[in-house]
Amino acid sequence: MRIGSLELADGLLLAPLDGFGDAPFRLLCRSMGAVLSYVPIVPDDAILARRRARRPLITYYVGERPLGIQLLTRDPDRVVKAIARVLPLQPAVIDLNMGCPARKVVQGGRGAGLLREPELAAEVMAAAVGCSPVPVTAKIRLGWDDVTRNHVEVARLLEQAGAAAICVHGRTRSQAYQGRADWAAICEVRKAVSIPVIANGDIYDVASADAIVDSTGCAAAMAARGAIGNPWLFQRRDLFAVPLAERLGVLAKHLHMSVLHYGERRGVVSFRKHVVQYIKGLPGAAAVRTQLMHAQTAAALLTTLAEQMAPDDRARSALLGQDVTEIKQWMGELCA
Ligand SMILES: Cc1cc2nc3c(=O)[nH]c(=O)nc-3n(C[C@H](O)[C@H](O)[C@H](O)COP(=O)(O)O)c2cc1C
Repeated sequence: MRIGSLELADGLLLAPLDGFGDAPFRLLCRSMGAVLSYVPIVPDDAILARRRARRPLITYYVGERPLGIQLLTRDPDRVVKAIARVLPLQPAVIDLNMGCPARKVVQGGRGAGLLREPELAAEVMAAAVGCSPVPVTAKIRLGWDDVTRNHVEVARLLEQAGAAAICVHGRTRSQAYQGRADWAAICEVRKAVSIPVIANGDIYDVASADAIVDSTGCAAAMAARGAIGNPWLFQRRDLFAVPLAERLGVLAKHLHMSVLHYGERRGVVSFRKHVVQYIKGLPGAAAVRTQLMHAQTAAALLTTLAEQMAPDDRARSALLGQDVTEIKQWMGELCA
C-alpha cells in the first residue's frame, strides 16, 4: 500500500491506542511485523503548550519507523503550528483523529465531534496538507450515531481536501467500542474514494484480519484491541498456536522494555494492563491477576508468574532468563 509518498509492505497496521500504544509496545509490534504504528492521540494544545516541559510529550525508538503521529485538533491554524512542532521528530505520516468518542473530547467538537461538522473537518485536513511535507491521513468513524451516519460524505470531503489515506473504524460515536464493527460500511467508503482506505474494527485473529480485507476490498487493515497481549497477530499467528514458553518469553521481554523505557516503578505499573491480556485464557490466569496488580517490581511480577503459571523449566526460564542488557541494546536509539 502507498500512503502518499510512503510505500508500506503488505501487512497489518497497529492502531493508535491511547494508554497501550506507547513506545515499548509499538517497538515490539513493529519487530513482529506491524507495518506502521502511531503515537496515539496528541491534543494540539498539549503540543503547543509543551515548550518547557520536564518530560518530552512524544518519544519513540528509531526502530519503530515508519511511525505516524496522531493529532487531535479542530482548528486549521493550530494544526499548522502543531505539525511544525512535531516535524523535527520525522514522522512518516501525520494522522488527524476524527473518531475519539470520549465525552471531554467531543464536547469541544474534537475527535468524533468533528464528524458533525464535515466542512470544518475538511478545512482542518486542507490546512494540514498545505503545510505538511509528509502525507496526512485521517481516522474516522461511521458518523455520530446510527441516524446521522455520514462516513461516505466525510471521506469524500477529506479526499478532496488532500488526505493521503483514510482509516475507517466501522462504528459510530454513540457505539463507542460496543457492538460489531460494520465492515459493509467501510466498503462503502472504499468504493467512494480513490485514496487508500484502511479497514479497522474487530480484528482479533488471522482469520478476521484476512476477512476484513476480503470483504471490504480495502488496501490494508489496522488491528487495535486484538493486538493487546497478542503481538503475534502481526506475524500472522493465532495465539492458541503460540507455545506457552514463547508467550511468556515475549511477555517478559515486553515488561523489561517497559522498565527500561520508564524506570522500574512506572514501567511495572504501565505494564500491568498488558500482563492481564498476555495471560488471558491461560490456566490459573484469574487466580494470579490480583497479585500481579500489586507487583511493584519486574522481579516480583515475573516470580509470581513463574511460581503460578509456568508448568516446566522452559516456561520458567522464558520468564526469568531474559537478558536485559541484550534487550536494552536491541531497543536502540530513542527519539524525543
Ligand atoms: C484503549 C484504547 C485506546 C484507543 N486510543 C485511540 C487513539 O488514541 N486514537 C484513535 O484514533 N483511536 C483509538 N482507539 C480506537 C482504536 O484505534 C480502534 O479504532 C478501535 O479500538 C476499533 O478497533 P477494534 O475493534 O479492533 O478494537 C483506542 C481504542 C482503545 C480500546
